[in-house]
Amino acid sequence: MSKIVTITDNTSGKSVACPVYEGTHGEPVFDCQGVAKELGMFTYDPAFMTTASCKSAVTFIDGDKGILLHRGYPIEQLAEHSNYLEVCYLLLNGELPTAQQFEDFSYGIRRVSVLHESLLAFYNGFQQNAHPMAMLVGVVGGLSSYYHEEMDIYNPDHRMMCAMRLIGKMPTIAAKSFRYLLGRPHVYPQHQFSYVENFFNMMFWLPNREFEMNPIAVRALEIMLILHADHEQNASTSTVRLAGSSQANPYACIAAGIATLWGPAHGGANEAVVKMLKEIGKVENIPTFLENVKNKKARLMGFGHRVYKNFDPRATIIRKICHELLDELKAESHQPMFEIAMKLEEIALKEDYFIERKLYPNVDFYSGIILSALGIPTSMFTVMFAVARTAGWIAQWKEMVEDPSMKIGRPRQLYTGHANRNFIQIKDR
Ligand code: ACO
Repeated sequence: MSKIVTITDNTSGKSVACPVYEGTHGEPVFDCQGVAKELGMFTYDPAFMTTASCKSAVTFIDGDKGILLHRGYPIEQLAEHSNYLEVCYLLLNGELPTAQQFEDFSYGIRRVSVLHESLLAFYNGFQQNAHPMAMLVGVVGGLSSYYHEEMDIYNPDHRMMCAMRLIGKMPTIAAKSFRYLLGRPHVYPQHQFSYVENFFNMMFWLPNREFEMNPIAVRALEIMLILHADHEQNASTSTVRLAGSSQANPYACIAAGIATLWGPAHGGANEAVVKMLKEIGKVENIPTFLENVKNKKARLMGFGHRVYKNFDPRATIIRKICHELLDELKAESHQPMFEIAMKLEEIALKEDYFIERKLYPNVDFYSGIILSALGIPTSMFTVMFAVARTAGWIAQWKEMVEDPSMKIGRPRQLYTGHANRNFIQIKDR
Protein backbone atom coordinates (compact mmCIF):
# COMPACT_ATOMS: atom_id res chain seq x y z
CA MET A 1 0.00 0.00 0.00
CA SER A 2 1.35 3.39 -0.90
CA LYS A 3 2.15 5.69 2.01
CA ILE A 4 0.20 8.82 2.72
CA VAL A 5 0.49 11.66 5.21
CA THR A 6 -2.83 13.05 6.37
CA ILE A 7 -3.04 16.71 7.31
CA THR A 8 -6.06 17.68 9.36
CA ASP A 9 -7.39 21.14 10.11
CA ASN A 10 -8.56 20.79 13.70
CA THR A 11 -10.91 23.76 13.37
CA SER A 12 -12.90 22.64 10.35
CA GLY A 13 -12.23 18.94 10.78
CA LYS A 14 -11.30 18.72 7.09
CA SER A 15 -8.40 16.46 6.09
CA VAL A 16 -6.23 16.09 3.08
CA ALA A 17 -4.35 12.93 2.12
CA CYS A 18 -0.85 13.73 0.84
CA PRO A 19 0.82 10.94 -1.12
CA VAL A 20 4.37 10.12 -0.06
CA TYR A 21 7.05 9.73 -2.72
CA GLU A 22 10.31 7.86 -2.22
CA GLY A 23 13.37 8.95 -4.17
CA THR A 24 16.33 6.73 -5.05
CA HIS A 25 18.12 8.05 -1.96
CA GLY A 26 17.35 10.52 0.79
CA GLU A 27 14.32 11.46 2.84
CA PRO A 28 10.90 10.77 1.31
CA VAL A 29 8.66 13.76 0.56
CA PHE A 30 4.93 14.19 0.86
CA ASP A 31 3.07 15.94 -1.90
CA CYS A 32 1.29 18.90 -0.31
CA GLN A 33 -0.25 20.23 -3.53
CA GLY A 34 -3.73 19.24 -2.35
CA VAL A 35 -3.48 21.32 0.83
CA ALA A 36 -4.52 24.64 -0.73
CA LYS A 37 -7.43 23.09 -2.60
CA GLU A 38 -8.78 20.92 0.21
CA LEU A 39 -7.99 23.03 3.28
CA GLY A 40 -7.86 26.53 1.78
CA MET A 41 -4.41 27.10 3.31
CA PHE A 42 -0.88 27.39 2.06
CA THR A 43 2.17 25.78 3.61
CA TYR A 44 4.65 28.17 5.27
CA ASP A 45 8.33 27.37 4.81
CA PRO A 46 10.66 30.39 4.80
CA ALA A 47 14.03 29.71 3.14
CA PHE A 48 12.55 26.42 1.85
CA MET A 49 14.12 24.56 4.77
CA THR A 50 11.68 21.65 4.42
CA THR A 51 10.54 21.96 0.84
CA ALA A 52 11.63 19.79 -2.08
CA SER A 53 11.07 22.19 -4.95
CA CYS A 54 11.53 19.69 -7.77
CA LYS A 55 12.32 16.14 -8.76
CA SER A 56 15.90 15.86 -9.96
CA ALA A 57 18.16 13.07 -11.15
CA VAL A 58 21.32 15.18 -11.40
CA THR A 59 22.98 15.34 -7.96
CA PHE A 60 22.48 13.75 -4.57
CA ILE A 61 23.96 14.86 -1.23
CA ASP A 62 23.80 13.01 2.09
CA GLY A 63 25.19 15.48 4.60
CA ASP A 64 25.30 13.03 7.51
CA LYS A 65 27.22 10.39 5.62
CA GLY A 66 29.36 12.85 3.64
CA ILE A 67 28.12 11.59 0.26
CA LEU A 68 28.02 13.59 -2.96
CA LEU A 69 26.93 11.84 -6.16
CA HIS A 70 26.60 13.23 -9.67
CA ARG A 71 24.29 11.08 -11.79
CA GLY A 72 25.04 8.31 -9.27
CA TYR A 73 28.85 8.56 -9.49
CA PRO A 74 30.67 9.41 -6.22
CA ILE A 75 32.58 12.69 -6.30
CA GLU A 76 35.73 10.86 -5.13
CA GLN A 77 35.73 8.71 -8.27
CA LEU A 78 35.02 11.63 -10.55
CA ALA A 79 37.82 13.70 -9.00
CA GLU A 80 40.27 10.83 -9.30
CA HIS A 81 39.48 9.49 -12.75
CA SER A 82 37.65 12.17 -14.65
CA ASN A 83 38.14 15.72 -15.86
CA TYR A 84 35.91 18.77 -15.69
CA LEU A 85 34.59 18.56 -19.26
CA GLU A 86 33.70 14.90 -18.83
CA VAL A 87 31.79 15.83 -15.65
CA CYS A 88 30.00 18.56 -17.62
CA TYR A 89 28.97 15.99 -20.22
CA LEU A 90 27.80 13.66 -17.46
CA LEU A 91 25.74 16.35 -15.73
CA LEU A 92 24.13 17.43 -19.00
CA ASN A 93 23.50 14.03 -20.56
CA GLY A 94 23.09 11.73 -17.57
CA GLU A 95 25.77 9.27 -18.76
CA LEU A 96 29.54 9.26 -19.08
CA PRO A 97 30.60 9.81 -22.69
CA THR A 98 32.23 7.24 -24.93
CA ALA A 99 35.66 8.25 -26.26
CA GLN A 100 34.06 9.55 -29.48
CA GLN A 101 31.31 11.41 -27.63
CA PHE A 102 33.91 13.04 -25.40
CA GLU A 103 36.04 14.07 -28.36
CA ASP A 104 33.01 15.59 -30.11
CA PHE A 105 31.91 17.37 -26.94
CA SER A 106 35.40 18.78 -26.21
CA TYR A 107 35.73 19.90 -29.83
CA GLY A 108 32.31 21.53 -29.65
CA ILE A 109 33.23 23.36 -26.43
CA ARG A 110 36.51 24.60 -27.91
CA ARG A 111 34.67 25.84 -31.00
CA VAL A 112 32.37 28.05 -28.98
CA SER A 113 34.95 29.33 -26.49
CA VAL A 114 35.82 32.50 -28.45
CA LEU A 115 33.80 35.62 -27.62
CA HIS A 116 32.18 37.75 -30.28
CA GLU A 117 34.52 40.71 -30.78
CA SER A 118 31.76 43.18 -29.99
CA LEU A 119 31.15 41.41 -26.68
CA LEU A 120 34.76 42.20 -25.76
CA ALA A 121 33.85 45.85 -26.16
CA PHE A 122 31.37 45.50 -23.28
CA TYR A 123 34.34 45.50 -20.91
CA ASN A 124 35.35 49.03 -21.84
CA GLY A 125 32.09 50.19 -20.29
CA PHE A 126 33.12 48.91 -16.85
CA GLN A 127 35.15 50.96 -14.39
CA GLN A 128 38.76 49.82 -14.12
CA ASN A 129 38.14 48.79 -10.50
CA ALA A 130 34.81 47.01 -11.14
CA HIS A 131 34.25 43.81 -9.19
CA PRO A 132 34.77 40.91 -11.61
CA MET A 133 31.44 39.41 -10.51
CA ALA A 134 29.72 42.60 -11.69
CA MET A 135 31.33 42.10 -15.10
CA LEU A 136 30.38 38.43 -15.11
CA VAL A 137 26.69 39.10 -14.41
CA GLY A 138 26.58 41.77 -17.11
CA VAL A 139 28.51 39.98 -19.83
CA VAL A 140 26.81 36.59 -19.36
CA GLY A 141 23.38 38.28 -19.45
CA GLY A 142 24.60 40.11 -22.57
CA LEU A 143 25.26 36.79 -24.34
CA SER A 144 21.52 36.54 -24.92
CA SER A 145 21.74 39.47 -27.32
CA TYR A 146 23.90 37.42 -29.73
CA TYR A 147 22.09 34.15 -30.25
CA HIS A 148 18.42 34.94 -30.94
CA GLU A 149 18.27 32.34 -33.68
CA GLU A 150 19.29 29.51 -31.36
CA MET A 151 17.43 30.24 -28.16
CA ASP A 152 14.22 28.25 -28.53
CA ILE A 153 14.14 26.54 -25.16
CA TYR A 154 11.78 23.87 -26.53
CA ASN A 155 14.27 22.84 -29.22
CA PRO A 156 16.70 20.18 -27.83
CA ASP A 157 19.48 21.20 -30.23
CA HIS A 158 19.15 24.81 -29.15
CA ARG A 159 19.20 23.81 -25.49
CA MET A 160 22.41 21.85 -25.95
CA MET A 161 23.95 24.64 -28.01
CA CYS A 162 23.19 27.17 -25.25
CA ALA A 163 24.66 24.82 -22.63
CA MET A 164 27.84 24.34 -24.64
CA ARG A 165 28.19 28.04 -25.36
CA LEU A 166 27.89 28.86 -21.68
CA ILE A 167 30.39 26.21 -20.58
CA GLY A 168 32.75 27.10 -23.43
CA LYS A 169 32.66 30.87 -23.00
CA MET A 170 32.65 31.12 -19.23
CA PRO A 171 36.45 30.77 -18.75
CA THR A 172 37.04 33.27 -21.56
CA ILE A 173 34.67 35.76 -19.93
CA ALA A 174 36.18 35.18 -16.48
CA ALA A 175 39.76 35.52 -17.72
CA LYS A 176 38.89 38.65 -19.66
CA SER A 177 37.42 40.20 -16.48
CA PHE A 178 40.65 39.43 -14.62
CA ARG A 179 42.83 40.88 -17.40
CA TYR A 180 40.65 43.95 -17.71
CA LEU A 181 41.26 44.75 -14.04
CA LEU A 182 45.00 44.53 -14.63
CA GLY A 183 44.91 46.32 -17.98
CA ARG A 184 46.35 43.28 -19.72
CA PRO A 185 45.66 42.50 -23.41
CA HIS A 186 42.94 39.97 -24.23
CA VAL A 187 44.07 36.40 -24.83
CA TYR A 188 42.06 34.20 -27.16
CA PRO A 189 41.41 30.52 -26.38
CA GLN A 190 43.84 28.20 -28.18
CA HIS A 191 42.85 25.01 -29.94
CA GLN A 192 45.78 22.92 -28.64
CA PHE A 193 44.98 23.38 -24.95
CA SER A 194 42.60 21.47 -22.70
CA TYR A 195 39.76 23.39 -21.06
CA VAL A 196 41.74 24.05 -17.88
CA GLU A 197 45.03 24.76 -19.69
CA ASN A 198 43.19 27.28 -21.81
CA PHE A 199 41.81 28.94 -18.71
CA PHE A 200 45.32 29.24 -17.27
CA ASN A 201 46.71 30.54 -20.51
CA MET A 202 43.95 33.13 -20.89
CA MET A 203 44.51 34.26 -17.30
CA PHE A 204 48.30 34.42 -17.10
CA TRP A 205 49.91 34.51 -20.55
CA LEU A 206 51.80 37.72 -21.30
CA PRO A 207 53.34 38.58 -24.65
CA ASN A 208 56.66 39.61 -23.12
CA ARG A 209 57.17 36.74 -20.66
CA GLU A 210 57.66 33.04 -20.87
CA PHE A 211 54.64 31.17 -19.56
CA GLU A 212 55.06 27.64 -18.36
CA MET A 213 52.06 25.47 -17.66
CA ASN A 214 52.57 23.70 -14.33
CA PRO A 215 50.83 20.28 -14.50
CA ILE A 216 50.18 20.19 -10.73
CA ALA A 217 48.57 23.63 -10.89
CA VAL A 218 46.48 22.53 -13.88
CA ARG A 219 45.34 19.40 -12.05
CA ALA A 220 44.56 21.43 -8.90
CA LEU A 221 42.32 23.77 -10.87
CA GLU A 222 40.74 20.84 -12.74
CA ILE A 223 39.80 19.26 -9.39
CA MET A 224 38.53 22.58 -8.05
CA LEU A 225 36.21 22.82 -11.05
CA ILE A 226 35.01 19.23 -10.67
CA LEU A 227 34.31 19.70 -6.96
CA HIS A 228 32.25 22.84 -7.54
CA ALA A 229 30.42 21.65 -10.67
CA ASP A 230 27.05 21.05 -8.99
CA HIS A 231 25.58 20.88 -5.51
CA GLU A 232 21.89 20.06 -5.80
CA GLN A 233 19.20 22.72 -5.14
CA ASN A 234 21.37 25.41 -3.51
CA ALA A 235 20.41 29.11 -3.67
CA SER A 236 21.96 29.92 -7.06
CA THR A 237 20.70 26.73 -8.70
CA SER A 238 17.22 27.33 -7.34
CA THR A 239 17.44 30.87 -8.74
CA VAL A 240 18.38 29.54 -12.17
CA ARG A 241 15.43 27.16 -12.04
CA LEU A 242 13.00 29.86 -10.91
CA ALA A 243 14.18 32.29 -13.60
CA GLY A 244 14.00 29.48 -16.17
CA SER A 245 10.49 28.50 -15.12
CA SER A 246 9.25 31.73 -16.70
CA GLN A 247 10.76 30.44 -20.00
CA ALA A 248 13.45 33.14 -19.86
CA ASN A 249 16.46 32.41 -22.07
CA PRO A 250 19.25 30.36 -20.45
CA TYR A 251 21.88 33.13 -20.63
CA ALA A 252 19.63 35.41 -18.57
CA CYS A 253 18.92 32.53 -16.16
CA ILE A 254 22.62 31.83 -15.62
CA ALA A 255 23.23 35.56 -15.07
CA ALA A 256 20.59 35.37 -12.30
CA GLY A 257 22.43 32.39 -10.81
CA ILE A 258 25.71 34.32 -10.89
CA ALA A 259 24.06 37.23 -9.05
CA THR A 260 22.90 34.84 -6.32
CA LEU A 261 26.27 33.17 -6.03
CA TRP A 262 27.88 36.57 -5.49
CA GLY A 263 26.43 36.86 -1.96
CA PRO A 264 28.90 36.13 0.87
CA ALA A 265 26.49 33.59 2.38
CA HIS A 266 26.88 31.49 -0.77
CA GLY A 267 29.99 31.86 -2.91
CA GLY A 268 32.09 34.10 -0.70
CA ALA A 269 33.35 31.80 2.09
CA ASN A 270 36.73 31.00 0.50
CA GLU A 271 37.40 34.73 0.27
CA ALA A 272 36.65 34.97 4.02
CA VAL A 273 39.20 32.21 4.71
CA VAL A 274 41.97 34.15 3.01
CA LYS A 275 40.95 37.34 4.82
CA MET A 276 41.07 35.45 8.15
CA LEU A 277 44.51 34.00 7.39
CA LYS A 278 45.84 37.43 6.54
CA GLU A 279 44.40 38.83 9.76
CA ILE A 280 46.06 36.09 11.82
CA GLY A 281 49.26 37.28 10.17
CA LYS A 282 51.77 34.82 11.63
CA VAL A 283 51.89 31.30 13.07
CA GLU A 284 52.60 32.59 16.59
CA ASN A 285 49.19 34.32 16.59
CA ILE A 286 47.25 31.08 16.01
CA PRO A 287 46.74 30.11 19.70
CA THR A 288 45.30 33.57 20.51
CA PHE A 289 43.06 33.40 17.46
CA LEU A 290 41.79 29.95 18.42
CA GLU A 291 41.12 31.15 21.98
CA ASN A 292 38.99 33.92 20.45
CA VAL A 293 37.14 31.33 18.36
CA LYS A 294 36.43 29.21 21.44
CA ASN A 295 35.23 32.30 23.30
CA LYS A 296 32.93 33.10 20.36
CA LYS A 297 34.78 36.32 19.60
CA ALA A 298 35.85 34.98 16.21
CA ARG A 299 34.81 32.26 13.78
CA LEU A 300 37.15 29.82 12.15
CA MET A 301 36.20 30.38 8.55
CA GLY A 302 36.36 27.33 6.29
CA PHE A 303 35.34 25.01 9.15
CA GLY A 304 31.87 23.53 9.65
CA HIS A 305 29.02 22.99 7.18
CA ARG A 306 25.24 23.23 7.34
CA VAL A 307 24.66 19.97 5.47
CA TYR A 308 27.85 17.96 5.94
CA LYS A 309 28.08 17.16 9.64
CA ASN A 310 30.69 14.42 9.61
CA PHE A 311 32.92 15.51 6.79
CA ASP A 312 32.70 17.34 3.51
CA PRO A 313 33.73 14.77 0.88
CA ARG A 314 34.99 17.59 -1.33
CA ALA A 315 37.29 18.81 1.45
CA THR A 316 38.96 15.40 1.76
CA ILE A 317 39.79 15.47 -1.95
CA ILE A 318 40.82 19.09 -2.15
CA ARG A 319 42.99 18.86 0.97
CA LYS A 320 45.26 16.34 -0.76
CA ILE A 321 45.66 18.43 -3.89
CA CYS A 322 46.16 21.55 -1.76
CA HIS A 323 49.07 19.92 0.09
CA GLU A 324 50.58 18.68 -3.19
CA LEU A 325 50.29 22.11 -4.70
CA LEU A 326 51.82 23.85 -1.71
CA ASP A 327 54.73 21.40 -1.69
CA GLU A 328 55.25 22.05 -5.40
CA LEU A 329 55.10 25.82 -5.10
CA LYS A 330 56.96 26.09 -1.78
CA ALA A 331 60.17 27.31 -3.32
CA GLU A 332 58.47 30.17 -5.11
CA SER A 333 55.79 31.19 -2.71
CA HIS A 334 57.30 31.65 0.78
CA GLN A 335 53.97 33.06 1.67
CA PRO A 336 53.29 32.95 5.42
CA MET A 337 49.57 32.62 4.71
CA PHE A 338 49.95 29.02 3.55
CA GLU A 339 52.08 28.14 6.53
CA ILE A 340 49.43 29.62 8.85
CA ALA A 341 46.68 27.65 7.11
CA MET A 342 48.47 24.34 7.49
CA LYS A 343 49.30 24.98 11.14
CA LEU A 344 45.76 26.18 11.87
CA GLU A 345 44.32 23.04 10.33
CA GLU A 346 46.74 20.84 12.32
CA ILE A 347 45.99 22.49 15.67
CA ALA A 348 42.21 22.87 15.19
CA LEU A 349 41.74 19.22 14.25
CA LYS A 350 43.18 18.22 17.64
CA GLU A 351 41.22 20.69 19.77
CA ASP A 352 38.21 19.46 21.76
CA TYR A 353 36.10 22.50 20.82
CA PHE A 354 36.15 21.49 17.13
CA ILE A 355 36.06 17.72 17.69
CA GLU A 356 33.00 17.91 19.98
CA ARG A 357 31.08 20.14 17.57
CA LYS A 358 32.07 18.05 14.56
CA LEU A 359 33.75 21.00 12.91
CA TYR A 360 35.99 19.88 10.10
CA PRO A 361 37.55 21.89 7.31
CA ASN A 362 35.09 22.38 4.45
CA VAL A 363 35.89 22.71 0.75
CA ASP A 364 36.30 26.48 1.10
CA PHE A 365 39.12 26.21 3.62
CA TYR A 366 41.32 24.70 0.95
CA SER A 367 39.88 26.26 -2.19
CA GLY A 368 40.82 29.77 -1.04
CA ILE A 369 44.35 28.58 -0.33
CA ILE A 370 44.63 26.82 -3.68
CA LEU A 371 43.35 29.80 -5.62
CA SER A 372 45.77 32.11 -3.79
CA ALA A 373 48.63 29.72 -4.46
CA LEU A 374 47.69 29.75 -8.15
CA GLY A 375 48.07 33.53 -8.18
CA ILE A 376 44.34 34.25 -8.42
CA PRO A 377 43.29 37.38 -6.50
CA THR A 378 40.54 37.06 -3.89
CA SER A 379 38.12 39.22 -5.90
CA MET A 380 38.19 36.45 -8.54
CA PHE A 381 37.37 33.58 -6.16
CA THR A 382 33.62 33.70 -6.64
CA VAL A 383 34.16 34.05 -10.38
CA MET A 384 36.10 30.78 -10.36
CA PHE A 385 33.23 29.17 -8.47
CA ALA A 386 30.79 30.53 -11.08
CA VAL A 387 32.85 29.08 -13.94
CA ALA A 388 32.70 25.65 -12.31
CA ARG A 389 29.02 25.85 -11.30
CA THR A 390 27.87 26.82 -14.80
CA ALA A 391 27.77 23.12 -15.66
CA GLY A 392 25.44 22.35 -12.76
CA TRP A 393 23.23 25.38 -13.34
CA ILE A 394 22.70 24.61 -17.00
CA ALA A 395 22.21 20.87 -16.41
CA GLN A 396 19.54 21.64 -13.80
CA TRP A 397 17.91 24.23 -16.08
CA LYS A 398 17.88 21.70 -18.94
CA GLU A 399 16.37 19.02 -16.71
CA MET A 400 13.62 21.42 -15.68
CA VAL A 401 12.80 22.54 -19.22
CA GLU A 402 12.73 18.92 -20.40
CA ASP A 403 10.13 18.05 -17.76
CA PRO A 404 6.73 18.25 -19.50
CA SER A 405 5.14 19.32 -16.22
CA MET A 406 7.25 22.50 -15.96
CA LYS A 407 5.23 25.47 -14.69
CA ILE A 408 6.23 28.97 -13.74
CA GLY A 409 7.47 29.01 -10.14
CA ARG A 410 5.25 31.19 -7.97
CA PRO A 411 5.53 30.93 -4.18
CA ARG A 412 2.75 32.33 -1.99
CA GLN A 413 3.05 34.43 1.14
CA LEU A 414 1.63 35.09 4.57
CA TYR A 415 0.47 38.69 4.23
CA THR A 416 1.20 40.76 7.36
CA GLY A 417 0.59 44.28 6.04
CA HIS A 418 -2.29 46.71 6.64
CA ALA A 419 -5.74 45.18 6.36
CA ASN A 420 -7.37 47.88 4.25
CA ARG A 421 -7.28 51.65 4.37
CA ASN A 422 -8.54 54.57 2.39
CA PHE A 423 -6.23 56.74 0.35
CA ILE A 424 -5.42 60.15 1.94
CA GLN A 425 -4.87 63.13 -0.35
CA ILE A 426 -1.27 64.42 -0.14
CA LYS A 427 -2.40 67.80 1.24
CA ASP A 428 -4.11 65.99 4.15
CA ARG A 429 -1.21 63.75 5.22
N1 ACO B 1 34.08 28.33 13.97
C1 ACO B 1 33.80 28.28 15.29
N2 ACO B 1 32.71 27.72 15.81
C2 ACO B 1 31.82 27.20 14.95
C3 ACO B 1 32.05 27.23 13.56
C4 ACO B 1 33.23 27.81 13.08
N3 ACO B 1 33.49 27.85 11.76
N4 ACO B 1 31.01 26.65 12.92
C5 ACO B 1 30.16 26.28 13.90
N5 ACO B 1 30.65 26.62 15.13
C6 ACO B 1 30.07 26.32 16.43
C7 ACO B 1 28.92 27.25 16.75
O1 ACO B 1 29.36 28.40 17.39
C8 ACO B 1 28.06 26.36 17.60
O2 ACO B 1 28.68 26.30 18.87
P1 ACO B 1 27.77 26.15 20.23
O3 ACO B 1 27.17 24.80 20.14
O4 ACO B 1 28.76 26.33 21.32
O5 ACO B 1 26.79 27.26 20.16
C9 ACO B 1 28.24 24.98 16.98
O6 ACO B 1 29.52 25.01 16.36
C10 ACO B 1 27.17 24.65 15.93
O7 ACO B 1 27.22 25.67 14.94
P2 ACO B 1 26.02 26.15 14.03
O8 ACO B 1 26.23 27.59 13.72
O9 ACO B 1 24.73 25.72 14.63
O10 ACO B 1 26.25 25.31 12.73
P3 ACO B 1 25.51 25.57 11.37
O11 ACO B 1 25.33 24.25 10.74
O12 ACO B 1 24.33 26.41 11.52
O13 ACO B 1 26.60 26.43 10.56
C11 ACO B 1 28.20 27.07 9.02
C12 ACO B 1 27.29 25.94 9.48
C13 ACO B 1 27.39 28.32 8.72
C14 ACO B 1 28.89 26.64 7.75
C15 ACO B 1 29.24 27.34 10.12
O14 ACO B 1 29.93 26.17 10.45
C16 ACO B 1 30.19 28.47 9.75
O15 ACO B 1 29.89 29.63 9.93
N6 ACO B 1 31.39 28.10 9.20
C17 ACO B 1 32.33 29.12 8.79
C18 ACO B 1 31.95 29.70 7.44
C19 ACO B 1 32.23 28.76 6.29
O16 ACO B 1 33.28 28.18 6.20
N7 ACO B 1 31.26 28.64 5.38
C20 ACO B 1 31.38 27.82 4.22
C21 ACO B 1 30.51 26.61 4.30
S1 ACO B 1 30.90 25.51 2.96
C22 ACO B 1 30.11 26.09 1.61
O17 ACO B 1 29.21 26.86 1.70
C23 ACO B 1 30.59 25.63 0.22
